[in-house]
Amino acid sequence: MINEPETHEIKTLLSQMSLEEKIGQLQMVDASGDSIPDWLEEAVRSGRVGGVINQVDPALSARLQDIARDSRLGVPLLSARDVIHGFKTVYPIPLGQAATWNPDLVKQAARASAAEAAAHGVNWTFSPMLDVSRDPRWGRIAESFGEDTYLTSQMGVAMVDGYQGDDLADPTSIAACVKHFAGYGAAEGGRDYSAANIPDNELRNVYLPPFWNAIKAGAASLMPSFSDVDGLPATANDTLMLEILRGYWEFEGLVVSDWDAIAELTVHGLAGTYQEAALLAAKCRVDMEMSSTAYADHLQGLVSSGAVSEAEVDRLTSAVLRMKQRLGLLDGRASRPAKPDPLQADLDLAQTIARESIVLLQNTGNVLPLQRSALRSIAVVGPLADAPHDQMGTWVFDGDAARSKTPLAALNEAGDDTVDIHFASALETSRDRSHTGFSAALDAANASDVIVAFLGEESILSGEAHSRADITLPGAQLALLKALKATGKPVVTVILAGRPLALKDVLAESDAVLFAWHGGSMAGPAIVDLLLGAASPSGRLPTTFPRSVGQVPIYYNHKRSGRPTDGEHAGEMVLIDDIDPGAPQTSLGMTAFYLDEGDKPLFPFGYGLTYSQIHYDAPDLHQAALTPDGTLTASARVRNVGDHAVTETVQLYICDQVGSLTRPVRELKGFERVALAPGEEKTVSFTLSIADLSFSRRDKSWGAEPGWFTLWIAPDAQSGAPTAFELREG
Ligand code: BGC
Repeated sequence: MINEPETHEIKTLLSQMSLEEKIGQLQMVDASGDSIPDWLEEAVRSGRVGGVINQVDPALSARLQDIARDSRLGVPLLSARDVIHGFKTVYPIPLGQAATWNPDLVKQAARASAAEAAAHGVNWTFSPMLDVSRDPRWGRIAESFGEDTYLTSQMGVAMVDGYQGDDLADPTSIAACVKHFAGYGAAEGGRDYSAANIPDNELRNVYLPPFWNAIKAGAASLMPSFSDVDGLPATANDTLMLEILRGYWEFEGLVVSDWDAIAELTVHGLAGTYQEAALLAAKCRVDMEMSSTAYADHLQGLVSSGAVSEAEVDRLTSAVLRMKQRLGLLDGRASRPAKPDPLQADLDLAQTIARESIVLLQNTGNVLPLQRSALRSIAVVGPLADAPHDQMGTWVFDGDAARSKTPLAALNEAGDDTVDIHFASALETSRDRSHTGFSAALDAANASDVIVAFLGEESILSGEAHSRADITLPGAQLALLKALKATGKPVVTVILAGRPLALKDVLAESDAVLFAWHGGSMAGPAIVDLLLGAASPSGRLPTTFPRSVGQVPIYYNHKRSGRPTDGEHAGEMVLIDDIDPGAPQTSLGMTAFYLDEGDKPLFPFGYGLTYSQIHYDAPDLHQAALTPDGTLTASARVRNVGDHAVTETVQLYICDQVGSLTRPVRELKGFERVALAPGEEKTVSFTLSIADLSFSRRDKSWGAEPGWFTLWIAPDAQSGAPTAFELREG
């Protein structure tokens, strides 16, 4: 798919088009609303629209396609919608989906979302978002697969496969769009839309590979990001758009601008006029313009003046037509079938993926799972215990809150008549600062065996343009938790949120903590499955969780520095309370750490407890060296030494000890989810080849460098016994 030649059909169609009609194909317009306004009907009928966004009423969508078929050349429309983590049935936010470490489930959810959306006239989604995200302040981290390049790649490919199916022309398939190319996740300070300052070696090794992998997997389209990357907004960044995307990667799929992003080149201060903006974007081969109209208003003039050739316009238009062709729109296979709504199978899938996304962060005294047989009463407290809208999370336009099953509803169902559920939300929203509801919550707590507090963030606190500078629990939630803890009853805290939060205080006030993200329609039953032990938690963190926001950015695959905390000066770290009064000037500790927070995060990438304990043997290398055309297998025996059946996510990490560029202290290179019955042991093996050791080197070529590597097979990015192997030349 990467190299798609023009077919005879496209060439013929193009030869019949006027310049105005060609430019019309490049325009995407907002078609939201409960009717088709006259201006839109007229624009579509006269061939001035190539695609629409945000019309999901099946009848109105069909009507728009009929109008397009009535235009002179009868070219149907692309019909886009942000189907980000489900349509009517909502799956966990992408960050939660990443926490499953289960690409197969992610693919299934995307497949089901595609079928639902397609039945509403949608044939294109702006998903998956492949922005590696190392900053939990950034609201759009919710839409990401977290901080790791490998995990993001795996999840991205799974989503693309799910949306697109085996054949884009299948009536249940929709085109995927990988976004935001590239580096949007590095927005300075986590402030949305801010410049992304990314060193070239990080851009090539951290931020670009997920896009490359998704493109290799057949992603039909791509969206450049709003970001200014090294002084050039991505929409007009020739290094990204031409040299890398169209050059090295030979991507010939459709490139669509982000919303108004071409016009915003003037706001960035890169173009003085909309005409200049259109010229810059067209030269960077942005094929379609979303919302703004710089192409529609200026491309014809640019062709007349010779600044843009008609052949260049043809190339843009062909990309649009080719995607229509792949979707089966050009040969009449456009109509998408109706689908029964909702499907029980979709809800079951939503429950499974939500359950697998939940991460157990703390379980003091094995308070979880709750012992159903001994349980007589539960206090269900907190603003997110019964919040059908908020549990769906950000970027939900079509999700049906009536389809949401909340934790309260699920607990009431599971408790039948034998468990008394005492419910008091205590706070109206997660931002509520009032303490007036506390006394009812304390009454509920005092009347119960155990307290389960549903805290976190409402859906509107994350997502686009919803960054936070303080990532602790908002409002009076911590005060509520402290009051609950003071009752002396066991406290289980369940966090629903759109980002990693700084949870140091929450851990101190809770016996157990489950991190449930915004879990979607079936978040309630999924959480209850884990609370009552129907399953053991299996989610793993797709990002590092900081102790406090001041540690951000903090991520596992950082560079070593000349003074690492595990190096020559290990053990010298002196924290703020241990510094002698009047201490003379020293380079305290001589390592990279904070006086007040030390060097470690609260939880590392990959972390997650189960209801059992898993013992890892040191890795066993089947040979000590790897040659460029060979493979190396590493195995480790893992044993369930507890008494619950679990799924353990076994992770493979490596570190390239010496490189032509400095290399990360660890990099994830594989993972496997392993089911382990109590007492069961399994040997998990990973096979590495030179491809797994390759990176963009000092000379920017992609390849591996001979030398020594460290390898870990571990339950998270911060543990495991190291072993070493050598990559030998030839
Ligand atoms: C976002 C994109 C989204 C587009 C269309 C923009 O504001 O950045 O991710 O696909 O809107 O809704």
